[in-house]
Amino acid sequence: MIPLSSDTETRPTAAMRAAIAGAEVGDEQRGEDPTVNRLQERVAELLGKEAALWFPGGTMCNLVAIKVHTRPADAIISDWMAHIIRAESGGMALSSGVLVEPVVSERGNFGPDDLRQALQRLKTAPPPYGPTPRLVCVEQTHNFAGGTVWSLGQLQALSAAAKTEGLALHMDGARLLNACVATKTAAADFAATVDSLWIDFTKGLGAPIGAVLAGSKAFIAEARRYKHVFGGAMRQAGIAAAGCLYALDHHVERLAEDHDNARRLAEGLVQIPGIHVRTPHPETNMVFFDPAGMGLTNEAFLAKLLDRGVRMGQVRGEIRAVTHLDVSRKDIDTTLAAVAGIA
Ligand SMILES: Cc1ncc(COP(=O)(O)O)c(C=O)c1O
Repeated sequence: MIPLSSDTETRPTAAMRAAIAGAEVGDEQRGEDPTVNRLQERVAELLGKEAALWFPGGTMCNLVAIKVHTRPADAIISDWMAHIIRAESGGMALSSGVLVEPVVSERGNFGPDDLRQALQRLKTAPPPYGPTPRLVCVEQTHNFAGGTVWSLGQLQALSAAAKTEGLALHMDGARLLNACVATKTAAADFAATVDSLWIDFTKGLGAPIGAVLAGSKAFIAEARRYKHVFGGAMRQAGIAAAGCLYALDHHVERLAEDHDNARRLAEGLVQIPGIHVRTPHPETNMVFFDPAGMGLTNEAFLAKLLDRGVRMGQVRGEIRAVTHLDVSRKDIDTTLAAVAGIA
């Protein structure tokens, strides 16, 4: 089976499993796991932040970051297709009691003018009627927009505007390192534009468990408290953190191969009759397309593809293919032949 439904489908390699098996461990909940501590220091340094904190996954990083930045009944401003709105089970409503003021955009990016317009909407009625705007959230890369990248210039402009308005800025950096590799930008340069951010190790980096949130020392101290509140503190988590350290050493630069494969897939799909590719020039590792021109529903297309040994998924009513560590260039050619066969 060629696993193109998500980059979360990666499985740890034999070398990563060996690193995991040899991990030095301690009680993470007490701050005593040496491998987790090493990973946190490494990520803080990579992102140029004062401190970093290990989490079981990225959803909890977003949940905790929003909790630390806001108070109940505050408003956050975010792109309308952000993962925090569309794919985290409404968690921030449950844990932080915040309202979202969405910004509609094509590519998942928005600028200072969009931010100011969102703030205007929140001020429709004079105080005390409207909610208090507190936080801006961005997603790098933007998943549902198509693995699109926020350029450093766009982030710097938004960051300056957020500062002027007295708002904090948080980055869901699930695929930040894809953006770094695609644009040859240092992670710390992107990170310097935001107050808090996290990276995920379970996507293209290929580790089985783990995400790390970074920010100021004061922010991370508060985050640690809420991580405990939400049940995210672990015991001998070094077992998993060793996989993340291995990924940082071996799986970052190779993300460029995933981007090449996504481009090859998109270029091939564009040639196939009946397929409309929304992302004909993928910026990172995702391709979104619509097979309706073949006279097939998404479900029927996915079933036929599965019969031919290729798995893709559906997002936003489109087919999404995501390239990663477990998808080779040859797999892309096999996939294109399978789609052509269906056509
Ligand atoms: C943009 C984005 N944010 C957050 C998450 C959640 O991360 P996790 O699966 O580690 O909880 C994902 C997962 O797919 C994602 O794509």
